[in-house]
Amino acid sequence: MKYISLIAGTAAITAASFAMADSHEEVNPAVTARQSHMQLYAYNLGILGGMAQGKIDYDAEAAQTAADSMVALTSMNTASYWPEGTAEGTKAQPAIWENLDDFMSKGEDLAFEVEGMADVAGTDLASLQGAMGNLGGTCSACHREYRARD
Ligand code: HEC
Repeated sequence: MKYISLIAGTAAITAASFAMADSHEEVNPAVTARQSHMQLYAYNLGILGGMAQGKIDYDAEAAQTAADSMVALTSMNTASYWPEGTAEGTKAQPAIWENLDDFMSKGEDLAFEVEGMADVAGTDLASLQGAMGNLGGTCSACHREYRARD
């Protein structure tokens, strides 16, 4: 289903989407790895965000687990996920490779805010809510510059 959003553009993009959907062996494993890693961020952030917004009941243990999982994710060295020449057919913007230091430093900003969340997620709801804005902001700051829009 996620390929649907890519189809909105030109015929060339449509063709590329079908190629990706049909033959997974043609997708660079680094691309699959980085997209999967992003999905794991989103999954754990979804738990924390759901609690922050009152859509999920606050549960200190579940909140701490989600935050700790994000710490584990940001502690991984993901530099090899981004080989040059892998923007096509993905949402990664070529600007990544023109500003690699900035791109990587946005990853470090995320790691910093994830630590901040892990320090307080299990304390109480108000503390979790207090850490949420900065954390979510680091995702958007990178996506704004380096991820193509839908
Ligand atoms: C350092 C930059 C950076 C940071 C920080 C970042 N992202 Fe991403 N994200 C990207 C890029 C670039 C893509 C596009 C990757 C691609 O299409 O290959 C992406 C893609 C995604 C996707 C789509 C994955 C897919 O299946 O195609 C999700 C979901 C996502 N990010 C969630 C998050 C969340 C949640 C956070 C914060 C907790 C986050 N990202 C932080 C750069 C970043």
